[in-house]
Amino acid sequence: MRVLGIETSCDETGVAVFDTALPGSAGLRAHAVYSQIALHAEYGGVVPELASRDHVRKLLPLVRQTLAEADLKLGDLDGVAYTAGPGLVGALLVGAGVARSLAWALEVPALGVHHMEGHLLAPLMEDDPPEPPFVALLVSGGHTQLVAVDAIGRYRLLGETLDDAAGEAFDKTAKVMGLPYPGGPQLAALAEGGKPGAYKFSRPMTDRPGLDFSFSGLKTQVMLAWRDSDQSDTTRADIARGFEDAVVDTLAIKCQRALDEAGSDTLVIAGGVGANKRLRAKLHDIAGKRGGRACFPRPELCTDNGAMIAFAGALRLQAGQFEDAAVRVTPRWDMATLPEVASEKPELQQ
Ligand code: KG4
Ligand code: ZN
Repeated sequence: MRVLGIETSCDETGVAVFDTALPGSAGLRAHAVYSQIALHAEYGGVVPELASRDHVRKLLPLVRQTLAEADLKLGDLDGVAYTAGPGLVGALLVGAGVARSLAWALEVPALGVHHMEGHLLAPLMEDDPPEPPFVALLVSGGHTQLVAVDAIGRYRLLGETLDDAAGEAFDKTAKVMGLPYPGGPQLAALAEGGKPGAYKFSRPMTDRPGLDFSFSGLKTQVMLAWRDSDQSDTTRADIARGFEDAVVDTLAIKCQRALDEAGSDTLVIAGGVGANKRLRAKLHDIAGKRGGRACFPRPELCTDNGAMIAFAGALRLQAGQFEDAAVRVTPRWDMATLPEVASEKPELQQ
């Protein structure tokens, strides 16, 4: 089954074709992402209306480009999957409208995909994919969640952030130290040159039981340290390193606990912060020491992309799940309400 995937939930337009007939990572026939970062940079954050308008401009050319790279025509598609939420409502509607129209014209089934399920399943697109049950750490700009994955589509929330998401904490901390939006990846790059231990920040909520997170206090600690420092480039790098180590350690401690609680040694990590090198190394290390493994998507598939939507959609469409032709999106959407993929009776979603 060849499925076109469309992602427009925030500030990236992503398109991909996933072919379930091809083995492992070969299933991803082509994918392309257009990032709106430059458009939003001068405002210091995503401007929803500008995001929607840019998706309108970029989506169809990107669909044509992706099909050409996959050496396919529109008529070769067997289904269309699009992000139906969570996300910015106007941005979601652009993807949903285009996907629904294409599916209707091509007379193929279409399905709205949960953006976080897309992230969560992205590591399964790689070769030698992990099989449920496992524990997933979802770390993006909007979410920080630990999820027990009992089956594909059967998710139990184990813990989540009470305030800022991990990516949001990276971005806000970077902003405090004068780095341009979105600062997360730049802060991580800066941390490479920082001296470990020069600045020591707390590991929030690790001194008590539980799997929830809180990152907003860490951001305040950095703000105070930066304010009271000489604000040199060396100090900026040292603080970046101290902050990154605090976030990575905190995530790693909670992942260990979640694996213990779920009785699993397989950890799947997804979402933009999953591209962070130090987090990847640390989680490989802790999973390896338990005799298990940590599975990540390749870094370019950690951040928002159409491939994860094509893949998650293909699994559900293949299981017979699809929806009527109405254009619906769900800006706020709890992943635990999704139907299991292997369920015998496919249900209409939403
Ligand atoms: O998954 P994603 O692309 O978008 C959302 O669904 O939110 O995640 C974006 C987030 C941003 O906050 C960005 O700063 C963060 O992921 N991020 C990183 C790195 N690359 C992206 N954070 C730390 N280290 C990185 N290398
Ligand atoms: Zn995302």
